[in-house]
Amino acid sequence: MGKSPLRRIISRGQIRRRVKEMAAHIRADYSGQRPVFVCVLKGAFVFLADLIRQAGLPLEVDFIAASSYGMAKTSKGQITVLKDVTTDIAGRHVILVDDIIDSGLTLQHLRDHLASHQPASLRVCALLARERVLAAGTVIEYLGFPVPEGFVVGYGIDYAEQHRELPDIYVIENE
Ligand code: IMP
Ligand code: MG
Repeated sequence: MGKSPLRRIISRGQIRRRVKEMAAHIRADYSGQRPVFVCVLKGAFVFLADLIRQAGLPLEVDFIAASSYGMAKTSKGQITVLKDVTTDIAGRHVILVDDIIDSGLTLQHLRDHLASHQPASLRVCALLARERVLAAGTVIEYLGFPVPEGFVVGYGIDYAEQHRELPDIYVIENE
């Protein structure tokens, strides 16, 4: 890892502007309601923190964690909920907040899991999503930026727990 250069693909200014726009859409759509923002740990916590401060409406936050499929790049890994929400989301308007939608499998699992708690509505807000998964028709109601292939870090997103603290978003170049 140490040697892999980071190439900046999205600046903090671009992020700030886009998060503000996304928050404005959410504010318009949830006017008069008190949605529950469910943040997917760990990668989405920085995004969540910025998003809720721009949202300008009463809201609640909760956190959920899913097992990743680790090193395996296979699409058939079993995803399990490692930490569930503690809020009773039955009848509530839920916004699932994630960092990056790669294959979309984690999203699908978490969507189904939360839906089983009978929320009044359930939408997804993701900072990043692969162009590939968008082309395949995965529904992301609020999307920050489509991104091409390449391992992304920064703004809360890690590679082996590194680089979460970077204010901009980078891709790790493999030489
Ligand atoms: P999916 O189930 O394939 O959509 O993968 C979802 C999760 O894998 C994301 O929420 C991230 O935690 C992680 N992930 C996927 N791609 C990247 C990346 O480029 N950088 C960092 N984490 C990633
Ligand atoms: Mg994630």
